[in-house]
Amino acid sequence: MEITEMKQLFLETFGDNGGELRVFASPGRVNLIGEHIDYCGGCVLPAALTMQTTLVARKREDDIIRLKATDLDILVETKISEMEELKGKLKWGDYQLGVALELIAAGYGVGGCDLLYDDTVPHGGGLSSSAAIEVSTALCLATFANEKAGIEKEIDMIEMALISQKAEHNFIGVKCGIMDQFASAMGKADHAVYLNCATLEYEHLPLKLEGSKIVLTNTNVKHSLGSSKYNERRGECEEGLNALKAALPNIEQLSDVTKEQFEEHKMLIENEVTRKRIKHVVYECDRVRQSAAAMKANDIAAFGAFMNGSHDSLQYDYEVTCPELDFVVAEGRKIDGVLGIRMTGAGFGGCTVAIIKDDAIDTYIETVGKAYLDKFGHEASFYVTEIGNGGREIC
Ligand code: GLA
Repeated sequence: MEITEMKQLFLETFGDNGGELRVFASPGRVNLIGEHIDYCGGCVLPAALTMQTTLVARKREDDIIRLKATDLDILVETKISEMEELKGKLKWGDYQLGVALELIAAGYGVGGCDLLYDDTVPHGGGLSSSAAIEVSTALCLATFANEKAGIEKEIDMIEMALISQKAEHNFIGVKCGIMDQFASAMGKADHAVYLNCATLEYEHLPLKLEGSKIVLTNTNVKHSLGSSKYNERRGECEEGLNALKAALPNIEQLSDVTKEQFEEHKMLIENEVTRKRIKHVVYECDRVRQSAAAMKANDIAAFGAFMNGSHDSLQYDYEVTCPELDFVVAEGRKIDGVLGIRMTGAGFGGCTVAIIKDDAIDTYIETVGKAYLDKFGHEASFYVTEIGNGGREIC
């Protein structure tokens, strides 16, 4: 929805009291490589999309927060002092309230406000529509809080990412890593974010795809086990780390383990499934390092090969794919000009990300689209993406 249209809808929904309307935005992300390793201290390589959450906001004088989305009939209204009681009870709005609570815990004097959201990131597609909502909310509420308190300081977007992550942990119950919120907060147009999740050091790497584009394929399925399996994988990583510590007492997280160390000591991990999980993490950490080097050297073909390796590892060792994702990947790889293709995000549904030569994109969309429909009886969606900027106030 256009911003003028959103402002109109805002006034119809919340009334016109002459107060100033402000507009904030924060994007979804695609992860190019480095999957399921952010919570093990690994380096990851996501990029911000131009699909985003746009938020029109107005301060209130009281302590009431009202929330509405352009595509939902629900209006959430709560006193700030009563937000906590809504945990687990809302059909929509929990990301926002979770963020408000974490901002308060971090010392921000969150005040009443009316907020209208418009999302162009597909929900449940593994493109971090939730991080887009969280980071835009965090930026808006923190900006308002600082203004009320007379604090003239630019908002620290890394802090906003960390606050958003805490909201996921404490209000939503998903023990996610920092990748999604960081990419949404800190993304830069035409660049990937090369992020070390152990230290939060980062670098913006120019995406020079020269004659190729990033193409996302949404399987349009979301397997409901997703978040419980996510937490289960985190548990398995914990278990594997503890087993390896018997031989490697100095490791703090799995990203500290080299491939050689893993191969030497892997039998300390007695459970075969857990061993496969740890193998994925260790080898994926290594693939990211190599693929970042390939990207810096403009070697997109090598980068694509690492993407393929990443998917195979997620399919067979980490087991977070699903038949729909594996099918898109297998069909995609049959097409000349598909340089690399893999699932992106948490998995169990959602999207694949591919780097495809410009002149092969139409063939890819047509061929994979038809095969997918024939096989699963519903359509896949395709997005030829641009890489956009992170969270910001637009006007
Ligand atoms: C989700 C989480 C991220 C990350 C990915 C998998 O998107 O929010 O922190 O763990 O899954 O790489």
